Amino acid sequence: MSRRRQIYEGKAKILYEGPEPGTLVQYFKDDATAFNAQKKGQIAGKGVLNNRISEHIFKSLATIGVPTHFMRRLNMREQLIRQVEIVPIEVIVRNVAAGTLSKRLGIEEGTQLPRTIIEYCYKNDELGDPMVADEHIACFGWASQDEMNDIADMAIRINDFMCGMFSGIGIRLVDFKLEFGRLFDGDFSRIILADEISPDSCRLWDMKSNKKLDKDRFRQDLGDVAEAYQEIARRLGLLTNED
Ligand code: C5P
Repeated sequence: MSRRRQIYEGKAKILYEGPEPGTLVQYFKDDATAFNAQKKGQIAGKGVLNNRISEHIFKSLATIGVPTHFMRRLNMREQLIRQVEIVPIEVIVRNVAAGTLSKRLGIEEGTQLPRTIIEYCYKNDELGDPMVADEHIACFGWASQDEMNDIADMAIRINDFMCGMFSGIGIRLVDFKLEFGRLFDGDFSRIILADEISPDSCRLWDMKSNKKLDKDRFRQDLGDVAEAYQEIARRLGLLTNED
């Protein structure tokens, strides 16, 4: 049997050609990078956990009417997804100050924001994904105004849903990153949620202890990285206590 054709290899995932036209296979690696790949490592079992966690969140979002690229999980590390044209914008949603927001604006990590903030970054590794304004997105034609309206609406709905989902399991959703893609139907396209949602792309703090249960454990050398990802999966009901 011939090996599937690889379409793209990113820092944490590989995309392969799917079994039918318009589909891809998304493979989750154990590789971890931070600070625009200046820091590299491996988190044993991360790919398996992120595959399950992202599947769970995308399926849950579909039940509230958020269209996503997810079709079905194929095995421990792979899921079948719809092929989209990725919008070159990373959408960051923030509820609590942390990370680059705290650094940039001098706001103490952990400060509850009076309202949710949505930021946009231009997806470009060479430039280090710089933050951009709507004006840049319109000026350089990265997305249309209608597409940006859909993206902002979906980001808010996703945030509302995920805040509730995580608070139900004792976790504070500090911030997270989303990516969207264009799904084509003839000459028309619509925006759907793509990529993944996992502890790689979210900041998740235990509500009681404030313990970080996300990729900051890797970024900041806090230890117990795989255990933190397992804890998220376990609280979401995706693992049994024996796993
Ligand atoms: O680093 P920063 O504070 O801007 O990150 C905000 C959120 O977006 C964090 O949850 C981080 O994990 C996520 N993020 C990401 N991929 C990036 C940049 C940020 O998943 N390239």
